[in-house]
Amino acid sequence: MLNLGLKKRAKHMRGKYILAEAKRKSLVRGLEAKTLNNFRSRENEPPQYKAPIEQILDKETWKSYGAVSTPPEIVSFMLKLSGVKTWESLRILEPGAGLCEFLEKIYQNHPNNYFYGVEANRDIYDIAHSLFPQFHLILEDFLLWKPEIEFDLVIGNPPYGIIGDQSHYPIHILKKKKEAYKAIFSTWYGKYNIYGAFIEKGINLLKNGGKLIFILPTTFMVLDEFKLLRKFLALSGKAIIYYLGPKIFQGRTVATVILICEKGSKGIELFEVKNLKEIIKCYERSDYEGGIIKFESNDSRTFEKGKIALGEVFDIHFAARSPEIKNHPKTSTRAGPGLVPALTGRNLHKGWIDYEKCFSGLYFPVSDAKLLRDFYGISHIVVGHTKAGKVVSAIDQKCYPWREELHLVPKSRELDLEKVAEYLNSEPVQEYMKNLYKEITPHLTMTQLKLLPIPFSFAKGGLL
Ligand SMILES: C[S@@+](CC[C@H](N)C(=O)[O-])C[C@H]1O[C@@H](n2cnc3c(N)ncnc32)[C@H](O)[C@@H]1O
Repeated sequence: MLNLGLKKRAKHMRGKYILAEAKRKSLVRGLEAKTLNNFRSRENEPPQYKAPIEQILDKETWKSYGAVSTPPEIVSFMLKLSGVKTWESLRILEPGAGLCEFLEKIYQNHPNNYFYGVEANRDIYDIAHSLFPQFHLILEDFLLWKPEIEFDLVIGNPPYGIIGDQSHYPIHILKKKKEAYKAIFSTWYGKYNIYGAFIEKGINLLKNGGKLIFILPTTFMVLDEFKLLRKFLALSGKAIIYYLGPKIFQGRTVATVILICEKGSKGIELFEVKNLKEIIKCYERSDYEGGIIKFESNDSRTFEKGKIALGEVFDIHFAARSPEIKNHPKTSTRAGPGLVPALTGRNLHKGWIDYEKCFSGLYFPVSDAKLLRDFYGISHIVVGHTKAGKVVSAIDQKCYPWREELHLVPKSRELDLEKVAEYLNSEPVQEYMKNLYKEITPHLTMTQLKLLPIPFSFAKGGLL
């Protein structure tokens, strides 16, 4: 019935909008006929209703493409922030176009521009193409696409995620191309995230004076994986960052920012968006060299006075990796004489360590812990990979094997470990970290810990 009715109506539509065709391709699995009808474009009329990508594709597929629709209020907010004064004859590109949330919104108010979108997923592309025949939509991998034109505005919400094996990483559909990406992108470093490559490509496609406007995870501001990207940003233009924090995407915890890169300019501006109507300027600098981006303030600078970075006085190490311990011949899955639990973050508390409970399910001879990491053999400070910049530390005096957390080994014997551990757990340190990093990273990172200021007097073996 449904097919018959649709075919009849489809005769009046251009061939490519034929709904039966869309249905044949299973583009819109499980959606009701009413919804399907609304996918079709009416001449010169924006579509009345569009389902988010997450409802069109099955979960496995949209996840593997990092395909998440941008909420309309965020699209409008980004357009407001864009600072574009004259929307005329601009070349506008939405990379990872999905269902063209940005192009559609701009087109509604400013149709006299040139609209381009690049989308890698065929099903999504087919729908977008039939919805928006007025746009130049291209079915391609944006990261490998080679247009011959430059753009005034590159705007959108790129996919987020690390490209790798399906078992560990979200973006596995593009895994085959990872080597090609690595060869192309100068900012690729470590466990790079696909959004970093979208930024590099987006900026490279801009005219001088053009703008890139993306909503992105906050992690590029701080993590080491993005150190080349930050340099690239600093060299390419002025970075204007609006910190939104978590809760922008429903049901997801990712903290986000809106990044505007003005190609050819210089400097950095950082804002905090309390809500879409209240924006606070944190700072503006005419120079930016590509360092980590944090919420520096008079308070943070005052706190840093008379102090030295923790990384100057401690060597900071990651714990032995899980597979390393699991596969070690001395590891046992049962308690036994001379064996102790391999400790995890759950064993670590402010100022004390629970040496009894075995959360890892793995046991190891305490006398051989140094076989896993030599520093396990000496008394040292353990700091948790805790959430939201919180610092939790304790001294491991029993020299146990660890499967997790960060391990601080003093560079000098004169350091008073008790004082340092107590200081790291103190309220002023928690306040400093919370205000400086907000929720930029999901967990405390090695870099943040290395930069944490501790009183000089600790380093000299004395007390404050
Ligand atoms: C986060 S969604 C954004 C969709 C839409 N622009 C929006 O803002 O609602 C990212 C989109 O990029 C597409 N995508 C993922 N990898 C891509 C690639 N390498 N090239 C082009 N598009 C890609 C996904 O299929 C998805 O539609």
